[in-house]
Amino acid sequence: MQKRKFGRQGSEVPVLGFGAMRMPTLSPESRELDESLSVALLRHAIDKGISYLDTAYSYHGGRSEAVVAKALAGGRRDEVMVATKLPHWLVEKPEDMDRLLGEQLERLQTAQVDCYLLHALNKESWPKLCGHDVLAFLDRARADGRIKYAGFSFHDRLPLFKQIVDAYDWDCCLIQLNYMDVDSQAGIEGLRYAAGRGLAVQIMEPLLGGRLAGTQPEEVRAVWARAPVGRTPAEWGLRWVWNQPEVTTVLSGMNTMEQIEENSRIAGEAWPCSLSSAELDLIREVREIYRRRTKVNCTGCGYCLPCPAGVRIRDIFYEYNQAAMYDLPRRETQAMYQWFAERQGDASRCTDCGQCEAACPQTLNVREALRDIHLAFGD
Ligand SMILES: NC(=O)c1ccc[n+]([C@@H]2O[C@H](COP(=O)([O-])OP(=O)(O)OC[C@H]3O[C@@H](n4cnc5c(N)ncnc54)[C@H](OP(=O)(O)O)[C@@H]3O)[C@@H](O)[C@H]2O)c1
Repeated sequence: MQKRKFGRQGSEVPVLGFGAMRMPTLSPESRELDESLSVALLRHAIDKGISYLDTAYSYHGGRSEAVVAKALAGGRRDEVMVATKLPHWLVEKPEDMDRLLGEQLERLQTAQVDCYLLHALNKESWPKLCGHDVLAFLDRARADGRIKYAGFSFHDRLPLFKQIVDAYDWDCCLIQLNYMDVDSQAGIEGLRYAAGRGLAVQIMEPLLGGRLAGTQPEEVRAVWARAPVGRTPAEWGLRWVWNQPEVTTVLSGMNTMEQIEENSRIAGEAWPCSLSSAELDLIREVREIYRRRTKVNCTGCGYCLPCPAGVRIRDIFYEYNQAAMYDLPRRETQAMYQWFAERQGDASRCTDCGQCEAACPQTLNVREALRDIHLAFGD
C-alpha cells in the first residue's frame, strides 16, 4: 500500500481508507447491516493494508461504529487509524459533545479516536457548534487523549471552507472530491488551500457514491476505449483523485471483496502526478459528457432521509438521473415512479417543509426538482 504524509504531523498513512458508510445490507431493499459480511470485509481490507477506517455516529442507523469495533476485536485495534464524527444535530448544549464522544468511545471499544471530525460542517452547523464552544471541547479532548487528531468534514461552499480551515489548529479535514466535483464544494482549490496550511486532506465520494464506477453510457465508453491502457471506470476515477499530490487518504465505500482487491491494487500504483496529459484530456471529455447529461446532482448520501412525508427522495433522484444518463426508455422510469407512488413515496406527498434542503450536503433545490419530476412522470 502506498503511503502519504499525514499533513504537518508527518506520520505516514495509507492512501486508501475504508469508508464504513456503505457497508452491505441484508438485501437491496433493507437498511439493516449484514454485520458478518461487513466484519469480514473490514478485516480483509486491513489485511490488504487499508489501515484507515472512517465511520460516524449516524452511519447505518448507528450500527457502523459497533461493527468497526467487532472487526477490530481480538487485538487488531493498534493496526489501524479509526476516524469517527461528532453528530452536530444531536448537540444542544456543550456537555452533549463530551457525552457523545464518550458514547462513541464505548461503541468503538477504544480509549482514543485517532481522527475526530465535526460531521458535515456547513453554514448552519458551523456557527451552531461554535456557539457551543466546540473548539474548547476539541482542545480538551486532545489534551486528555480521548482524541488524537481533530478535524472536520465539509459540505458547503469554498469561502466557508477557507474560513473554517483558518479558524483552528486542525490536523485534518474530509472533503468530497472526484473528477466531476473539481469546482463544487471545497473542490480542487479547497484541497490545495487546506494542504498548504498543513492539514491532512481525506477524500470522500471519490467515485461519486459509485456513479462513476457503474455501467457507463455509450459515449463515455467510447472515450475510455481510446485510452492506450484498458482500465475500469472505477480505476479512472480513483487514479484521478490520487493524481492530486495534496490528497492524503482516499476513502472508498467498498462493499465486496472484489472492490477491495481492485482498489488496493490501484492504490499501490497510482502515484501523484502520474497521469499523462492525454489521459487527463480523456477524463475532461468524460466530465463534459456527464455534465451535459446529469439532471440532479444527488450523490445518494441520504442525509435528506427520512422525509417526514415519506417521499423516497434519494430513490426518485437516482432513477431520474439514471434515465437521463443512460437513455432509459421513458416507460421504464414511469413504471418505477408508479412503483414509488404505490408505496406512498412519490413526489406528490411532499408537504414543502424544506427539511430535505436544510440537510442536503449538495445544497440541492430538492423541492423544485421533485416537482419537475412529478410533472414529468406522475400521472
Ligand atoms: N462526512 C461526510 O459528510 C461523508 C459523506 C459521504 C461519505 N463519507 C465517507 O466517505 C466514504 C467514501 O465515500 P463513498 O462511500 O461515497 O465512496 P465512493 O467510492 O464514491 O462510492 C462507493 C461506491 O463506489 C462503488 N465502488 C467502489 N469501488 C469500486 C470498484 N472497484 N468497482 C466498482 N464499483 C466500486 C461501490 O458502489 P456499489 O455499491 O454500487 O457497488 C461503492 O458503494 C464513505 O463511505 C464515508 O465513510 C463521509
